[in-house]
Amino acid sequence: METKIKNLDVDNIDRKFIKQAVDILQTGGTVVFPTETVYGLGANGLDSEAVKKIFQAKGRPSDNPLILHVHSIEQVEELVEHIPHIARLCMEKFWPGPLTIIFKKSSRVPYIITAGLDTVAIRMPRNNIALEIIKEANIPIAAPSANLSGRPSPTTAKHVIDDLVGKVDMIIDGGSTGVGIESTVLDLSGDIPMILRPGAVTKEDLKEIIFNIEVDSSIISSDENIIPKSPGQKYKHYAPNAEMIVFTGEINNIINTINKEIIEYRKKGKKTGIMCTDETKDYYKDVLSLSLGSRKRPETISHNLFNILRIMDEENVDIILAEGIEISNIGLAIMNRMMKASSGRVIRT
Ligand code: TXA
Ligand code: MG
Repeated sequence: METKIKNLDVDNIDRKFIKQAVDILQTGGTVVFPTETVYGLGANGLDSEAVKKIFQAKGRPSDNPLILHVHSIEQVEELVEHIPHIARLCMEKFWPGPLTIIFKKSSRVPYIITAGLDTVAIRMPRNNIALEIIKEANIPIAAPSANLSGRPSPTTAKHVIDDLVGKVDMIIDGGSTGVGIESTVLDLSGDIPMILRPGAVTKEDLKEIIFNIEVDSSIISSDENIIPKSPGQKYKHYAPNAEMIVFTGEINNIINTINKEIIEYRKKGKKTGIMCTDETKDYYKDVLSLSLGSRKRPETISHNLFNILRIMDEENVDIILAEGIEISNIGLAIMNRMMKASSGRVIRT
């Protein structure tokens, strides 16, 4: 299949290309577009045949449900059984933005979207290209992250092109995404409000509205017996080709342990890559070390994380030694992605 690739300036959107994207979506095709979190691979969320193409292009297991993207709160009404009061408050406060809410679904939502579940995930992205497309198309757009299943989510059009060129109808290049990791998934369909996937809308943010919020205990656990409540979380995710180990604990201990490991892996003839931070970069010598950003600004770390995982692959490293970061606010989401990338290999120093 031929993939059209178009550059769009988010501050000065060329309507001609929005129209082209909408035509493709309304006739059952697939369009990749930027959101504020990661790039999404979109199709008409009410058309089962169109949605099938998403699963095919990504090589995604059919038991992993998709998120429907909307441009307004009104659009949610017809997709859900009802809107709980707390969900309305969350939508008003955090939309458009990196928060996905799970509702009981209405009969309009096809089961291919929800992977057979009676609940549906919905979000309103905070990116004008995405919002214009959804508004103009006037249909909910199903869109998982636009990567091949198992690869790190794409934060630039280059990542998308590497994974999906020839497999989708159109890719819109809208520059690098801001947040860099996927949205928070919040389940409001049951009795207990629960975070199933942490993201940039943090537990601390949500607590201001939801007093009894809980976090799925599998989120940063390496215990394989704890089964995640969100189907997507059970897969080895965000995985680089290299093996990866995450080191947690006091920062000096982390640096010392990683430096010892560098020597051990060098003896074994393995190429090592270090994922460190601005504050620690100078402590690693004669080794490929890439800074995720400053520990004082964890949002820079989430912004860079997936790009650096992909660079490690391009550099053909055998083993990635990654510094852990503090598990508060967006740090929970960052550590969740690191745990997944490392298949739960965490060493406490
Ligand atoms: O930031 C994002 O959310 C991006 C952009 C493109 O919007 N999308 C994204 O989609 O990350 P995806 O498909 O890669 O991840 C969706 C996650 C999966 O972990 C999936 O299992 C979960 O949401 N999910 C979807 N529907 C669900 C449901 N009904 N119940 C529980 N989990 C659900
Ligand atoms: Mg994904």
